Amino acid sequence: MGRHERVAALAGEDLAGLEVADLGCGPGRTVRALLAAGPRRVHALDRTSGLDDDVLADARVRSRLADLDEGVPLADGSLDAAVSLNVVEHLASPVDHLVDCHRALAPGGRLVLAHSDWDTALFTSSDDGLTRALVDRFVAAAHGPAPRSDGFMGRKLLGLSDASGACGAPWEVEGVEVWADGHRRFDDGSVAWKVATAVLAAAGDEPALAARAAGWVEDLRALADAGQFLFAVTDVAVVLRRA
Ligand SMILES: C[S@@+](CC[C@H](N)C(=O)[O-])C[C@H]1O[C@@H](n2cnc3c(N)ncnc32)[C@H](O)[C@@H]1O
Repeated sequence: MGRHERVAALAGEDLAGLEVADLGCGPGRTVRALLAAGPRRVHALDRTSGLDDDVLADARVRSRLADLDEGVPLADGSLDAAVSLNVVEHLASPVDHLVDCHRALAPGGRLVLAHSDWDTALFTSSDDGLTRALVDRFVAAAHGPAPRSDGFMGRKLLGLSDASGACGAPWEVEGVEVWADGHRRFDDGSVAWKVATAVLAAAGDEPALAARAAGWVEDLRALADAGQFLFAVTDVAVVLRRA
């Protein structure tokens, strides 16, 4: 089971008849996993439109362009469950977002707040010191196209739920799940390749590090070809119930 399926399962094994949302859905991998549990509707919200065609074609999906920094565009108490995977690091105020999720959920509704903790990124390489320096640079820089990021967000999720409570939007913590999916492939487009490419890009504005990193990706590829490569990152999912 991959991270999208795990997050969807934490929202509920049986979502029959329920109104759910994926907040910052991206291409819709978690939406696809949610649909398998039989919800009445999945609100797929993101500020950019990138849903895969098969997800968009499902009549139960309501795709909506929305900037979550301006609020969740759904009525008070209208959701039975919501999921958020690798999104809150990009938001101007993750706490305000949690307060707004609390508003949009019905009493007793569940929020699965999940995030990779990028500081834990693990790559097999021939130069552990260089890999450490590159991952440090990656988490210190804004990774990816978004203007904000936080490479330590996974470990901060419980604190966010507490801060939301202090703002009048309390949550009961139902559980905390931690896992790391392992990836052994390093083909172009693979999960490990995508992250390694972003790590390399983050080193670009540090010439000394960038020069040392030039052969890093090729080293990872060679290790993968030899069957010795592993990539993993720790994911944290906090399961919250609207108190
Ligand atoms: C790393 S992707 C994760 C996508 C998806 N949840 C997944 O796990 O595949 C982050 C997503 O958050 C969305 N996002 C970032 N800031 C946002 C905002 N202010 N409002 C809505 N969506 C936002 C991005 O467009 C992107 O699709």
